[in-house]
Amino acid sequence: MDHTMRELLSNIGGMDYLVSEFIRVTQYPIPSATFGRLIPENRSNAATTNNHPVHTQLLGSNAELMAESAYQASKAGATHIDVNFGCPAKRVNGHGGGSVLLQTPNTLHNIMKSIRLALPSDISLSAKIRLGYEDEELLFENVAAIESAGTSKLTVHGRTKKDGYKPPARWEKIGDIQSRTKMEVVANGDITDIQSLKKCQAITGCNHFMIGRGALNNPFVFQDLRLALEEKDTENHTERLVELFKTYTARLKQDYDEVATLGRLKQWCGHLRIEYDFIRENLQLLRHSKSTQEILNTMEDITKK
Ligand SMILES: Cc1cc2nc3c(=O)[nH]c(=O)nc-3n(C[C@H](O)[C@H](O)[C@H](O)COP(=O)(O)O)c2cc1C
Repeated sequence: MDHTMRELLSNIGGMDYLVSEFIRVTQYPIPSATFGRLIPENRSNAATTNNHPVHTQLLGSNAELMAESAYQASKAGATHIDVNFGCPAKRVNGHGGGSVLLQTPNTLHNIMKSIRLALPSDISLSAKIRLGYEDEELLFENVAAIESAGTSKLTVHGRTKKDGYKPPARWEKIGDIQSRTKMEVVANGDITDIQSLKKCQAITGCNHFMIGRGALNNPFVFQDLRLALEEKDTENHTERLVELFKTYTARLKQDYDEVATLGRLKQWCGHLRIEYDFIRENLQLLRHSKSTQEILNTMEDITKK
């Protein structure tokens, strides 16, 4: 998610850290200034204003360019580099980046090793993978290749590239990795509430979890999970959500024009509908809004119904 959404979620809190959208490294190293512009948190101790660390994620296939880019990111202020080997997008894979690299463990190793060597030792390094490309045959080779390069943390989305986003995520495979590596394993895929979190924990044996879409669907998810883990009741968030929607609109307007702001708000409604019935029932109305003021008014109206 982008800086504005990270800021919004961080203000609610409950997470340990956030990760940037991937920054693609293709023809040349990404200059330091770009890392400051695309991930503004890098200019403030690589953390949100509410002090949640923000990790800088890179995606690419050329070890040298990735290493130089990682170094430039650290010069911009990044304190943690994450490398994306999970992206299934055709355009990204077509250029040799993302999950297509899961077919060549040597390349994974070379990229991670080059980055590790280029970075100051106090900058931590992690990778994000899927279970494989077509199948899981190379899973443990990939994990070993990444670990032996000096990587300290591995986030695993429990699907292959071929699986796309087809449910369910296969958490049992993440458990197999957890028992075979010394890296900190972060389980990812389809964690949205306390039931799925507990089930994932029981199956994987992991102590660390990553939530993607679930945080866009319910921005209070991290807080809800913390409360549920303490066996405390969670609140109904409808009123707070409307306030949050207003704050998000105001923040977006600082960075984007009216059209782009409206587009992002409608996109978010598409996520929120999964968690909130009142959004689902009025999605068409929200999506037909012609201005940010109209979508805000609609939001207010539908909560009063
Ligand atoms: C629209 C979209 C964009 C994504 N962008 C990224 C990304 O930039 N970096 C990344 O590591 N994962 C990205 N992911 C994958 C998620 O981080 C996560 O691995 C995946 O959605 C499964 O977890 P979830 O069920 O919690 O969403 C993206 C997923 C979606 C649907």
